[in-house]
Amino acid sequence: MTHPQDQSSVVVPEPVVDAARGASRIVVLTGAGMSAESGIATFRDARTGLWKDFDPKDLASPEGWQADSDLVWGWYRWRAELVRRSEPNAGHIALARWQERAHVDIATQNVDDLHERAGATVLSHVHGSLFEPYCSDCGVRAQLDDAAMSEAEADQRVPPPECPVCGGLIRPGAVWFGESLPEDAWAAAEDAVRAADLVLVVGTSGVVYPFAGLPAIARSAGATVVEINPVETEVSDMADYRWRATAAVGLPALVAQL
Ligand SMILES: NC(=O)c1ccc[n+]([C@@H]2O[C@H](COP(=O)([O-])OP(=O)(O)OC[C@H]3O[C@@H](n4cnc5c(N)ncnc54)[C@H](O)[C@@H]3O)[C@@H](O)[C@H]2O)c1
Ligand SMILES: [Zn+2]
Repeated sequence: MTHPQDQSSVVVPEPVVDAARGASRIVVLTGAGMSAESGIATFRDARTGLWKDFDPKDLASPEGWQADSDLVWGWYRWRAELVRRSEPNAGHIALARWQERAHVDIATQNVDDLHERAGATVLSHVHGSLFEPYCSDCGVRAQLDDAAMSEAEADQRVPPPECPVCGGLIRPGAVWFGESLPEDAWAAAEDAVRAADLVLVVGTSGVVYPFAGLPAIARSAGATVVEINPVETEVSDMADYRWRATAAVGLPALVAQL
């Protein structure tokens, strides 16, 4: 059990504090580990009941959608419901506070809305958002209320809503396996790391490309790269400094020292 409120006992490595104090443009790249201490289910954990026998690729791919859109829509509604029942953690809140005092851009792989609910502005949801569904035919953004988007019972197939413009099916707003990233979201993230002098990489295993290439882009553009993760990852080699801490413990301790 960690006590994120008690920052006095957390030692922030000096090079990390120095880098953060000296930076004028900061980018924070976040992955699933950012939301782990909020209890957000991973792909694997969110496959219970009806969905337990399916591979993530059956639930999060264009082929899965073609095969059974009710199954996929039901699963995404359930995942959105799990997120709604969760709260931002002390790490999300610390980033929101930091944004009030410095130029801090957040680019996330997470499809949850916990950065926003902590009061932060997200520059880029590189892998889309659970809360931004759109038409699978004409692409128009769907305006769905909470009930339509997330209040599914567990274990339920749900037919997707129809597009008010063209009658096509409304699909989840997350990027699926095999799909390319939304161009604007990728360009915003890439431009931000190129302009940054400090890039923090928080809670990502660094295996999903092209997001996992951002630390290397940052580094070759001259930024200092700091990793915050309890374990070694595929992008650890890219970091100037590796801080073995969790998001909800490390980030509040760091921001408290600035
Ligand atoms: N919350 C979400 O929106 C969510 C959740 C699961 C998966 N996804 C998707 O799945 C893919 C997975 O890639 P990924 O790299 O984001 O996740 P990942 O699951 O591959 O890696 C998570 C990383 O977080 C680290 N970690 C675990 N607990 C941590 C903590 N408390 N603090 C800091 N780090 C911690 C782990 O060591 C690991 O390196 C992405 O494409 C993402 O869009 C999103
Ligand atoms: Zn449409």
